[in-house]
Amino acid sequence: MSPVRPAFVAGNWKMNGALATNAALLEKLRAGLSVCKTMEVAVFPPFPYLDQAARLLSGATLALGAQDVSIHAAGAYTGEVAATMLVEFGCRHALVGHSERRSLHQETDALVAQKFGAAQAAGLIPVLCLGETLAERQVGETLTVVMRQLEAVLARYGVHSLANAVLAYEPVWAIGAGRTATPEAAQAVHLALRQQVALRDAAIAEKLRIVYGGSVKADNAAQLFAAPDIDGALVGGAALNADEFLAICRAVNP
Ligand code: 13P
Repeated sequence: MSPVRPAFVAGNWKMNGALATNAALLEKLRAGLSVCKTMEVAVFPPFPYLDQAARLLSGATLALGAQDVSIHAAGAYTGEVAATMLVEFGCRHALVGHSERRSLHQETDALVAQKFGAAQAAGLIPVLCLGETLAERQVGETLTVVMRQLEAVLARYGVHSLANAVLAYEPVWAIGAGRTATPEAAQAVHLALRQQVALRDAAIAEKLRIVYGGSVKADNAAQLFAAPDIDGALVGGAALNADEFLAICRAVNP
């Protein structure tokens, strides 16, 4: 974590939630987050609950994000949700290229880049997810994969698009596995990503938040956040428990 970059901690609820449990969770987060003033915290509920979350978070410091976004503005795209719709429902961020979208919905680097552009064009801050599979890591392909995923966006929208975006390094093998990357292994990838961006624009690289995701919990967050290029976390399972998520937020300023 570096003082030049305010930490970003986000809870990706994935396909979890219900009106009653969301209300209880958001109420606890709202009450507990008055203590975290030097960072940004966001929640990413499923689409149908964005309206509920926006109402419950009204006036709170917690931001709202969506888990995905369409590349299209409007039209005959059954099941898709446009970026402008997300803005109308109070979203500030949108995840693009989460590994579950890439693997379960065959999203390609090119499609993810288009989603990044669609989100940004509507005024959303894209959170671009990058990460290698276990098989790719085992053959030493980690950096090749994450750089390819990053380059798809840089080639299309240029380095300036990263001035208003967040990167989330989420090694696929660490997601939901109870197995997290060591702070050293994650730091090495975060630093490499920042250096890659710095080749094009050092100032943008310095300010770019690169958060880590993959089995982040209250008991490993502080060690991860101690690494200089880890600027926060994208939290899955642990974001569904208010006490656990709040403890992760507090680990930013131990
Ligand atoms: P877990 O924290 O459950 O491993 O999920 C990480 C993730 O995919 C967040 O987007």
